[in-house]
Amino acid sequence: MADNQIKKPRGTTDYFGKEEEVLAGLEEVLMDESRLYGCQRVNPPVFEESRLFHRSVGESSDIVRKETFDLQRKGDKDYTLRPEFTAGVNRLVLENKLYASPDLPLRYAYMGKVFRYERPQSGRLREFYQFGVEFLDRKVDLDCALDALLLSVNAVKKALGKPVKVLVNYLGSFQSRENYKKALAEYFRPHLSEMCDDCKNRFETNPLRILDCKVEKDREIAKGAPRIEDYLSDDDKAEYGAIISLLESLRIPYVKDDGLVRGLDYYTGLVWEIYDLENPDFPALGGGGKYASLMSDIGGPDFEGIGFSLGVERLILDMPHERVEAIRKIAKVDVFLIDLERKGKGCAIAERLRDLGMSVSMPSFGKGMGGCFKMADRIQAENVLILFEDGHLEIKDMKTREQKIIDEEGLVALFGR
Ligand code: HAM
Repeated sequence: MADNQIKKPRGTTDYFGKEEEVLAGLEEVLMDESRLYGCQRVNPPVFEESRLFHRSVGESSDIVRKETFDLQRKGDKDYTLRPEFTAGVNRLVLENKLYASPDLPLRYAYMGKVFRYERPQSGRLREFYQFGVEFLDRKVDLDCALDALLLSVNAVKKALGKPVKVLVNYLGSFQSRENYKKALAEYFRPHLSEMCDDCKNRFETNPLRILDCKVEKDREIAKGAPRIEDYLSDDDKAEYGAIISLLESLRIPYVKDDGLVRGLDYYTGLVWEIYDLENPDFPALGGGGKYASLMSDIGGPDFEGIGFSLGVERLILDMPHERVEAIRKIAKVDVFLIDLERKGKGCAIAERLRDLGMSVSMPSFGKGMGGCFKMADRIQAENVLILFEDGHLEIKDMKTREQKIIDEEGLVALFGR
């Protein structure tokens, strides 16, 4: 390949062949699981006004501070490729007044591409698929929260065919979170000069995010920080307790981690991440949480939400080989038509079969008979139909290997059932 050959951008994926089949199969498994929880699919645009992400995902999040793909301005507005779905789904609910529905909670599922300008490495891409779910209601009650959590766990288990582990934390109501942030700021202030630049910024915008820092020295300092548990209200503690009891009663492996603050600013209450139980060093397969004021932050009514998103490429990367094969959605070819007559009649026969709902594919003219049959095997065609030079037809059942002469009416009788 020439040096100046145009290649796909770093951190993106070309889906074709087996990878595309696995993606299609996985999408079906995940969407089917979401339907068990009453979800309907939504599909917001791939780009939105930039201010949507600034107001929701948050100015202090790494995503908004350094990872968005901002489009070059063309008119009077700034647009950004979506770095996640939650903001877009909330905007969709607001703009279409779906919050006024009498049928609450709204239960929405989605799957599509998201874009983050991250340093590409295994499991970390710049363009990747997320599958996810958002439940929205005037007040997200305990059942709704538990449903969202259980759906996330079951979706990953179904996808991988493996057990998972959940990391959970509880950030509390808006007020308890604000009190906790103040306490953190008090604690970190005297240490600030020794801390990394990111933490200095986080101190100004959202001190909670300091707990997320990966720098060893900062982690040491964070060990002595006040604990969120001491700032939770009685209601918060009761809800967190009920969530933990459910995880225990369903024997879902979990770890309480009060350093789990997640990289997005909108969370209040429950937050969680999902990991492969047998492969704990593998990066997070998904994460989510509750958000009490995202909708009002973008100009909507008081409406709460809870949801999660899964990294689809990570699921595929972590999927055992047998599961990959089982999940693949191979488009089957009912009839592989070899047109030796080459006068266009082959195409007309193919159309007649397609009208009967059969999938029909054909090799290019001039391919030898042996080559055609090898191709039919490779694409797993069920039948091979040969239109000979003299205009007669023969059909071969590729399972029984039986070949017989047939006419068009015979074909209609065979496939028209
Ligand atoms: P998130 O934790 O930023 O949450 O992303 C969810 C999942 O997307 C991650 O757990 C991971 O599996 C995958 N992911 C994230 N970044 C990358 C990347 N660069 N390459 C490949 N996969 C990646 C959210 O996006 C929230 N919107 C989740 C949510 C929904 N919270 C409430 N509702």
